[in-house]
Amino acid sequence: MKHIDLCEITSALVGKTVTVCGWVRTSRDSKNVAFAELNDGSRLEHVQIVFDKADFKAADKLAAMLALGSAITVTGTVEKGLKDGAVEIRAKNAELLGGSDTSYPLQKKRHTMEFLRTIPHLRVRTNTFNAVFRVRSELSYAIHEYFHKNGYYYVHSPIITGSDCEGAGEVFKVTTVGFDPSVKSEDEYYAKDFFGRSAGLTVSGQLEGEVMATALGKIYTFGPTFRAENSNTPRHAAEFWQIEPEVAFADINDIIAIATDMIKSIIGHLLEHCQPELEFFDARFENGLIAKLRHVVDSDFARVDYSDAIEILKKSDKTFVYPVEWGLDLQTEHERYLTDEYFKKPVFVVNYPRKIKSFYMKQNPDGKTVAATDLLVPGVGEIIGCSERENDYDKLLAEITSRGMKLTDYANYLDLRKYGSVPHSGFGLGLERMLMYVTGMSNIRDTVEFPRTKDELR
Ligand code: 4AD
Ligand code: MG
Repeated sequence: MKHIDLCEITSALVGKTVTVCGWVRTSRDSKNVAFAELNDGSRLEHVQIVFDKADFKAADKLAAMLALGSAITVTGTVEKGLKDGAVEIRAKNAELLGGSDTSYPLQKKRHTMEFLRTIPHLRVRTNTFNAVFRVRSELSYAIHEYFHKNGYYYVHSPIITGSDCEGAGEVFKVTTVGFDPSVKSEDEYYAKDFFGRSAGLTVSGQLEGEVMATALGKIYTFGPTFRAENSNTPRHAAEFWQIEPEVAFADINDIIAIATDMIKSIIGHLLEHCQPELEFFDARFENGLIAKLRHVVDSDFARVDYSDAIEILKKSDKTFVYPVEWGLDLQTEHERYLTDEYFKKPVFVVNYPRKIKSFYMKQNPDGKTVAATDLLVPGVGEIIGCSERENDYDKLLAEITSRGMKLTDYANYLDLRKYGSVPHSGFGLGLERMLMYVTGMSNIRDTVEFPRTKDELR
């Protein structure tokens, strides 16, 4: 269809005739004129269409075009609007492309986020979700741009895998074999299955990313990951996107510097390219959002040893639901206290106890901790899980064995420590968690159009 995007309608076009398309977001009908706020997704703000009723005599046709949710195309003249700098289009011709009616769920009132989650196929037509997905797109672009500019290769790790990278037993099974009462053992069952062995959806592309980094040097993955976590929280999804750089010849301090640089760089990109959206979120969802993001770009991140973090938590006058003890994992409430109240900025917690972290992390000389860090940010908690990888064959083998993991599943991974093993490090950034941080959305379900969470699949 011959038309121009609404983002091109600026004061430079005043006096010109244009054809545009879009969906009617709101409308008003008065005696001689009617107004429709049109949006085609090319920008956050709507463009007002003015209908002189004398030019649109067929009242039923006009009424259909003013129905909320309907799609129309309009040819008309661009004119100065009432507000400073605003422009509108005075319709000469207009046609209904797809009608709507009063059952359209997005009527004028402001809807709750909970209600909007029940209509994932329509909620993107609200200003809020329009803004969320514009930022999600720009954020993804900024991440690719960052790695591309810095000499990383974008690699694709498999979605179906045979190993559990995090060893947390949260792998969704992939199978084509139904229930069979004649099967006597797990091995027999898997032997009949599609791959002749157990298979699952990847929880992380890291293990394959490490393979690629040991030849290409600097790589990153950017794809969906899946976890059958039984937790129904505002920050856990069963399907989420992860960005996982893996860097050869880099130790834990190098990778912390890379993660810091990346976070600052992508936030800087959003501040530059998503101003209307960030202003919208600042006004509606998180007062001070833009100032917060500017501060992140301009200031240093904090860094604290896990052991010191435990002391800080113990000394705080907060009452936590979960116990605080060296050797126990930090719960959301602890993470939030550290970052929201104590440091009041992003903080890397480093050197976690070995027992609570994954098998692949580099063991520190103390034998008790690993060279691993989580980046915690105010309002969200953990957004990055990061570590130097164990590159010593014997230590890694011992760790895999002592955790009762199946050696055959990790044979190739161990080979990397047999042939040209080098210090290397990487991290995983959760795209939706990052999006929560930069938009002020407080629930992960509102950062992805079709959230998959426990007992929820729409
Ligand atoms: O800390 P995690 O489990 O680390 C890994 O998966 C490593 N293999 C990454 C690496 O070193 N290559 O997860 C990384 C990040 C978390 O910090 C969080 O942002 C996000 O992934 N994440 C989730 N996001 C949404 N829902 C979930 N259930 C998530 N689990 C992890
Ligand atoms: Mg983690």
